[in-house]
Amino acid sequence: MTERIVLAYSGGLDTSVAIGWIGEATGAEVIAVAVDVGQGGESLEDIRQRALACGAVEAYVADARDEFANEYAMPTLKANALYQGHYPLVSAISRPVIVKHLVKAAREFSATTVAHGCTGKGNDQVRFEVGIQTLGPDLKCIAPVRDLALTRDKAIAFAEAKGLPIETTKKNPYSIDQNVWGRAVETGYLEDIWNAPTKDIYDYTATPEFPPAPDEVIISFLQGVPVAIDGVKVSPLQAIQELNRRAGAQGVGRIDVVEDRLVGIKSREIYEAPGAMALITAHKHLEDITIEREQARFKANVSQRWAELVYDGQWFSPLKRSLDAFIEDTQQYVSGDIRMTLHGGQAIVNGRRSETSLYDFDLATYDTGDTFDQSQAKGFIELWGMSSKVASQRDQRASGL
Ligand code: ARG
Repeated sequence: MTERIVLAYSGGLDTSVAIGWIGEATGAEVIAVAVDVGQGGESLEDIRQRALACGAVEAYVADARDEFANEYAMPTLKANALYQGHYPLVSAISRPVIVKHLVKAAREFSATTVAHGCTGKGNDQVRFEVGIQTLGPDLKCIAPVRDLALTRDKAIAFAEAKGLPIETTKKNPYSIDQNVWGRAVETGYLEDIWNAPTKDIYDYTATPEFPPAPDEVIISFLQGVPVAIDGVKVSPLQAIQELNRRAGAQGVGRIDVVEDRLVGIKSREIYEAPGAMALITAHKHLEDITIEREQARFKANVSQRWAELVYDGQWFSPLKRSLDAFIEDTQQYVSGDIRMTLHGGQAIVNGRRSETSLYDFDLATYDTGDTFDQSQAKGFIELWGMSSKVASQRDQRASGL
């Protein structure tokens, strides 16, 4: 039987050419796999037809939008995960769900190998291959752009020589990856890190000449997950989509960073994640009233480690699974409503309420009738400072020796 290779297919030039390129280099049959993670653009059926026209023996398409929102974006939200304090892991969380479908397709079509279109300089090759190794330890991996030297010029020449039905002339100077959780833009003019992004780079967020009136929104959460917007029930996918639209119209969620890639390079990236950033902001503010202080402080450390693991392609690792269990436990009482104003590129919380809140008005109030016994503060402070005070006395003694 002819060997079969499953290819992660986007419908773009590189992966379209890769179908024939892999076939010629390996003699294998190629099965194209396209996964919908809410990237928008063309219909999956058009993409499927193009894969077949480019020589794929089969084309498998999966609508993974709800799966991605529920099982990948929601854990990211529960973690308030921001890599290096900025990046909500847009591309990093889409790779594991794509990997799941690649491995599934490899089983279905009896393929021995999985192929992806990443270069050898980025994080995504690591995320794909570590994921594939973990979920399909018997599967081999190839990366035509990296391993079979498929450069862009060669791709264009190949597409023209074979008359493939793909656009080769449109010159997009940027490398873009997008899904419902956000959009990432890099390379070209952005590689000079002093260059400010131009307006045309943005797609999920508006740069309004005349900013629209502030948009006030109420997001209701149940155990860390958004369940309603302005009182209307939503699924996680709908919550993200709705806030992409509303927060995007107000220019919320633009991020311009130089980040540390796993391969040791610092790279400039522009992100737009209006829905994700509005949700993370709201969720964090709800945690502020529903999670106990020490648990909350510890969770911030866990979240940072979680973000690093996910960024570094360790989605399926045991440590990530253990941290998930901790994070999940913290979400038990993260239920209630957050009111926020979306305006001028910012999402600012201005109200919160929760049945499971730890905010105690009677303890907090400065009005008469509070239940907080101020006389206890004096002794508490005496003991709280004791250890440092004893050490400081020792330091003074020692400096006189
Ligand atoms: N730097 C980001 C990450 O590693 C995004 C990479 C996405 N790819 C792109 N072509 N912009 O997660």
